[in-house]
Amino acid sequence: MSQPSNRGVVYKGPGKVAVESIPFPELALGDRKCNHGVILKVLTTNICGSDQHMVRGRTTAPEGLVLGHEITGIILEKGDDVEFLEVGDIVSVPFNIACGRCRNCKAGMTGICLNVNPARPGAAYGYVDMGGWVGGQSDYVMVPYADFNLLKFPDKGQAKEKIADLTLLSDIFPTGFHGCVTAGVGPGSTVYIAGAGPVGLAAAVSAQLLGAACVIVGDMIEDRLAQARSFGCETIDLREEGDMEDKLEVILGEREVDAFVDCVGFEAHGCGCNAGKEAPATVLNSAMTITRAGGQIGIPGLYVTDDPGAQDEAAKVGALSMRFGLGWAKSHSFHTGQCPVMKYHRALMQAILFDKVKIADAVNVQMISLDQAPQGYADFDGGAAKKFVMDPHGEFVA
Ligand SMILES: NC(=O)c1ccc[n+]([C@@H]2O[C@H](COP(=O)([O-])OP(=O)(O)OC[C@H]3O[C@@H](n4cnc5c(N)ncnc54)[C@H](O)[C@@H]3O)[C@@H](O)[C@H]2O)c1
Ligand SMILES: [Zn+2]
Ligand SMILES: [Zn+2]
Repeated sequence: MSQPSNRGVVYKGPGKVAVESIPFPELALGDRKCNHGVILKVLTTNICGSDQHMVRGRTTAPEGLVLGHEITGIILEKGDDVEFLEVGDIVSVPFNIACGRCRNCKAGMTGICLNVNPARPGAAYGYVDMGGWVGGQSDYVMVPYADFNLLKFPDKGQAKEKIADLTLLSDIFPTGFHGCVTAGVGPGSTVYIAGAGPVGLAAAVSAQLLGAACVIVGDMIEDRLAQARSFGCETIDLREEGDMEDKLEVILGEREVDAFVDCVGFEAHGCGCNAGKEAPATVLNSAMTITRAGGQIGIPGLYVTDDPGAQDEAAKVGALSMRFGLGWAKSHSFHTGQCPVMKYHRALMQAILFDKVKIADAVNVQMISLDQAPQGYADFDGGAAKKFVMDPHGEFVA
């Protein structure tokens, strides 16, 4: 049988991506056999703020990298060692690649698997320094350790019907939820979420799902703040002058929050009169300022070890100017790193399937074709209040 052709979204240097012909996947990564893997026909694959860090030239990502770590697909072919999945199953792929066999995987820390990236713990599809696994913004992609990694949807018809929500299980819904869990959000919490991009909005919905009393989202893009208000969040426009504590007092009657979630990361911009200027530690510093003593700070926003585009020498190696003494004085807990998607994806799938949450509406999913990737990347970079989801085989968009 002749193999179908394959196309992928390829990073072509700062500010540029292109849809190009790429090899059809094999059950291998170089010399490494992946008989435990499957080949998926990609149903949906999303553009992420994490991709933007690479496409803006703010990482050491090499040109030619096939992008895409947010993948949902149908199993087209399976390796001999795959026991519990079948051809035709519709599955969500956690963006973390995990072996299921190392001490970290066994402890549920699948974001820092020890066996999938020779350079450092943790791997992902189509990402710089993440093990060289090929990205899934493509027609077809290979997923290793399939029995361990994949989440199978119980009903294929229902999966397609709810695809705009379910596609968010590969990353941002679990990531936003994890941000809230690690910030200690529970019933009655007051929560501040920095960033109203898709991860921030997913965190805001998650905080509501966890029972927060009040969810406040801060950003400097009005359309994104309006999106947060559309499902009941309070918002703070960071272009406006004034102290964060004063703004919180107006909303909460208190000058601090119980829980803080950083959904911005190292490309953070300054607030007030500094809005627009980059200030990589600003979110971490406001976290320590406005989180109550004893409070927790969840940091899904990404921080890097190398940033060729940084404005100063220290930031070029990821060293930031944090007022860490303040966090220490307030006994803050900080939680960083990749979200271990698998910890949450089944429960969040159930919340979607039983209509307990409307995550696609909250993040404003917009389906586009694979060919529209360059425009999707450009619009997202421009601050569109949308989560772009690509549909390579035209199953959902005409
Ligand atoms: N930890 C993980 O597993 C994980 C997973 C997915 C994404 N991420 C990271 O989460 C972050 C957010 O992702 P996204 O897709 O929402 O990206 P995004 O770029 O769309 O959103 C970031 C938002 O932060 C806003 N912002 C900038 N400076 C700010 C400030 N000082 N205060 C408040 N808001 C500010 C921007 O205007 C933007 O709307 C990225 O760093 C991404 O890499 C991490
Ligand atoms: Zn992502
Ligand atoms: Zn492992």
